[in-house]
Amino acid sequence: MADLRTSLGRLQLPNPVLTASGCAAAGKELSQFFDVAELGGIVTKSIMLRPRSGRATPRMAETPSGMLNSIGLQGPGIDSFLAHDLPWLRERGARAVVSIAGRHTDEYVALAKRLYNHPVDLIEVNISCPNVESRGQVFACDPIAAGRVISAVRRAAHPNVPVFAKLSPDVTDIGLIARAVTDAGADGISLINTLLGMEIDLDTLQPALGGVTGGLSGPAVRPVALRCVWQVHQTVPHLPLLGMGGIMTGQDALRFLLAGASAVSVGTAVFHDPGAPVRILRELNAELDARGFSSVTDAIGFAHKSPQQQAALRTGVTHPVSV
Ligand code: SIN
Repeated sequence: MADLRTSLGRLQLPNPVLTASGCAAAGKELSQFFDVAELGGIVTKSIMLRPRSGRATPRMAETPSGMLNSIGLQGPGIDSFLAHDLPWLRERGARAVVSIAGRHTDEYVALAKRLYNHPVDLIEVNISCPNVESRGQVFACDPIAAGRVISAVRRAAHPNVPVFAKLSPDVTDIGLIARAVTDAGADGISLINTLLGMEIDLDTLQPALGGVTGGLSGPAVRPVALRCVWQVHQTVPHLPLLGMGGIMTGQDALRFLLAGASAVSVGTAVFHDPGAPVRILRELNAELDARGFSSVTDAIGFAHKSPQQQAALRTGVTHPVSV
């Protein structure tokens, strides 16, 4: 079977499948279905400085091949996270990728400082939540605002902890934002967050979500996410990418690696199949093997190479190639 090891900046991972932020709090709920240490890592729900109750209900709506959420960054706040959730993850041997979110740059900085002396493996900076009071708070829609948050977090965070910027697909040129956060010191990029959407309930003749708009995820967004990974890999080919958006199978995960992701996050799939991350890891292993990839690292960005370059790289590979 393929060598599944990969890395996200300085962080070495035993395999490239992680959970996605927001779909299972800090991982406890999933531990009844699989050993959380089996995955590349657990990405937590975005943590804010203070406990937060989030948006009005209803907060979820199903759409064809997708799901809308309008949670509004509900969570226990950093004190509770550090007292309970982070120790729980460490005790189980899971790699802890901590997602942080703030209303202002100062709040992100305060969160990075609070994490400084704690055993965190990577910080994912959520600058792209669509469920905030104003679009002006979606820092990832503006290259200057995005760069400002990332450079401040990079300075405040422990130097050994990689800082990843989580980007939104709701922009005209995602390469521009990727370049801005890279110049600001991001060690990598997570993409994508959900797309802003909405649904109307035909019984009430009202918006289906209490917050009116919400973030669309699931298989409906996978081609958008794949396109974003592709474009960002072209823009900043040296930067590690954590790809996500509608990944339901090992084949989906492989496509993200081929587009340039070094690892993938599985999110919406866990709502109907809580064991999806480990299933997808198993399937990915078989898909790599079936295509003659002896390692995950060989597959990263492979689709960017011409057929001639691919053939040259495969010299000596004995398996048939049928990607
Ligand atoms: C939410 O809590 O509203 C979702 C968070 C996100 O999409 O970043």
